[in-house]
Amino acid sequence: MSKASTKRSQSRLRSGSDPAAIREAEQVLSRGGLVGLPTETVYGLAADARNPRAVAAIFKAKGRPDHNPLICHVSGRDMATTLAEANDAAEALMGAFWPGPLTLVLPHRADSGLAPAVTAGLPTVAVRQPGHDVAAALISTFGGPLAAPSANPSGRLSPTRAADVLDGLGNKVDLVLDGGPCTGGIESTIVGVDHDRLVLLRPGLVTSGELAAVGHLPVVSRDGDTITAPGQAASHYAPHAPVVLDRESASPPDVLIGFDDVPGLPEGLTLSPTGNLEEAAHSLFATLRQADGLIGEGGRIHVAPIPASGIGLAIRDRLIRAAAPRPTEETDRIGDAGKAGENP
Ligand code: TXA
Ligand code: MG
Repeated sequence: MSKASTKRSQSRLRSGSDPAAIREAEQVLSRGGLVGLPTETVYGLAADARNPRAVAAIFKAKGRPDHNPLICHVSGRDMATTLAEANDAAEALMGAFWPGPLTLVLPHRADSGLAPAVTAGLPTVAVRQPGHDVAAALISTFGGPLAAPSANPSGRLSPTRAADVLDGLGNKVDLVLDGGPCTGGIESTIVGVDHDRLVLLRPGLVTSGELAAVGHLPVVSRDGDTITAPGQAASHYAPHAPVVLDRESASPPDVLIGFDDVPGLPEGLTLSPTGNLEEAAHSLFATLRQADGLIGEGGRIHVAPIPASGIGLAIRDRLIRAAAPRPTEETDRIGDAGKAGENP
């Protein structure tokens, strides 16, 4: 980014803890604009979910295929049930995990008032109550649901800091509320709630074990199998350098991202020096960005093994997508990423 455009971008940044900034963001939303919104998972690109023009602007700013639906961010159970039908399992999951990093895919109510593009014509709608004070303040000041995908160009690394939003989207966003680095660091768990089962559409910080325990239903993968490991992944969350998984070392021009105790690793380039999975999720995208910036011509990012259990499954899901073969044509990437649940 040039100095002038960095300066222009900075002028869109506000402190999320300033009540005047929340009011300004509310006005941006009311006139159909786009707000970079901190949540506990990643930053979102928020717009009025009931305004078709505003929702169209989200798709345009991200370069997102229009058949890929958006998550509606709500102030809690009461707002969620104006948009969606909640059965007992859904009520139990909301009660246990909201506000927090869990998105529920539920039957869409015909009288929701949502812009049609939000659900991309599906009979379901994705809802979540984010666990971040700034997000909560903006949704309650605005008084309605906010459609918000992650605030990155489609297919690229998700933003976990306000500066990442400006880096990726620049002047395509009207205002960015800075809420500090996201504590969670990876996108919400997405679960489809059926009458007899829960369908894990995207792994995240709420694990399938926790979902089963609270929902009292079996958790299955999208293709109906009981969850054991993440499935085949299309390229996504891609840094610029190629990514290679499950490596213990790297020699120049390659760079190693560590996990747990990796001897001789430069300081900072580890997801968690103590092997803590929550810490690894928190630092995942920022560390990938950092490694990307360090790598010279022809270098690759090697990533140390991450255990395939609990939150480790969600981290591995993101890394497997980052390491997946890159499409040669932009249209291929959009085609792959466009399936519901594929995370653009
Ligand atoms: O943590 C998060 O979920 C972040 C923050 C900003 O809330 N948001 C996020 O949104 O990751 P996005 O758009 O990057 O990913 C949402 C995913 C997409 O893969 C989309 O296909 C899926 O949710 N999705 C939305 N509505 C759906 C539906 N009705 N059925 C199935 N999948 C749905
Ligand atoms: Mg995304």
